[in-house]
Amino acid sequence: MKVLLCPPTFFRIEYEINPWMNVANDADSETVLYEYALLKQTLKSAGIEIMEIQPDKNYPDMVYTANYGFVHDDVFIEANFKHSQRRGEEIIATSYFKSLGFQTKQFAKYIFFEGEGDLLRAGNQLYMGFGKRTMFEAKIELESILATSIIPLQLTDPYFYHLDTCFAPISESIAIINPSAFTDYALKILEQNFSTLLYTNEQDNAVLGCNIIVHNRNIVVSSGISESLKSGLKQLGYTVLETPMSQYIKGGGSVKCCCLIVEQ
Ligand code: ARG
Repeated sequence: MKVLLCPPTFFRIEYEINPWMNVANDADSETVLYEYALLKQTLKSAGIEIMEIQPDKNYPDMVYTANYGFVHDDVFIEANFKHSQRRGEEIIATSYFKSLGFQTKQFAKYIFFEGEGDLLRAGNQLYMGFGKRTMFEAKIELESILATSIIPLQLTDPYFYHLDTCFAPISESIAIINPSAFTDYALKILEQNFSTLLYTNEQDNAVLGCNIIVHNRNIVVSSGISESLKSGLKQLGYTVLETPMSQYIKGGGSVKCCCLIVEQ
């Protein structure tokens, strides 16, 4: 697996576009650099290859690379950010991917789509979160570019505004979810499609316990998740690698948000 990260050189809480963000509770620049170094180290120890994009001082949220777009083989599909504060990150990402020889695609800007934050793979199936950031209409655009069908899941909780904040597919049949973040219908679909679902509790939700990276049998997650989630994952044969994400959580993101998956 190969993931794209962005160093938190300019990471600050400069505006509030989700309920986790509070400009009065800014990120500590030294601590976030330390957390970034540990995140890289932990991902590497899980066998993951790291790529880095250069940060831009105008985009403090650039650290959440998952939102730049979606990568499929050698195609990069550009995001359409809902909030003006983040518009422009996708342009930087597009020129980065072009320089690496990727094909790039985009669709109409008024159809909001926040990249891998709202589009996740479980085996061969793609799931798209909508209703908070990404719009339902993105489904058809993405299905035509990717030539595959996508299952839409409606999100309901302002704290869990991207799919990767409340749903973590671990394999085709195993996932972690925060059930309170979905409509009843979306929850039914998840219960039907996954034979094993692990449910997060308040403690897991407070550190965005669904916001993980899975590679081989390793799971990289924020430190602070509950013993019950940890033991559930261990029983299924996974190794849980915890890394501190306190500063990133102030911005409303954790491990997965900081990783754009470039190669599975
Ligand atoms: N502050 C960022 C925003 O609100 C956090 C993005 C988190 N990313 C994610 N993939 N969940 O857009």
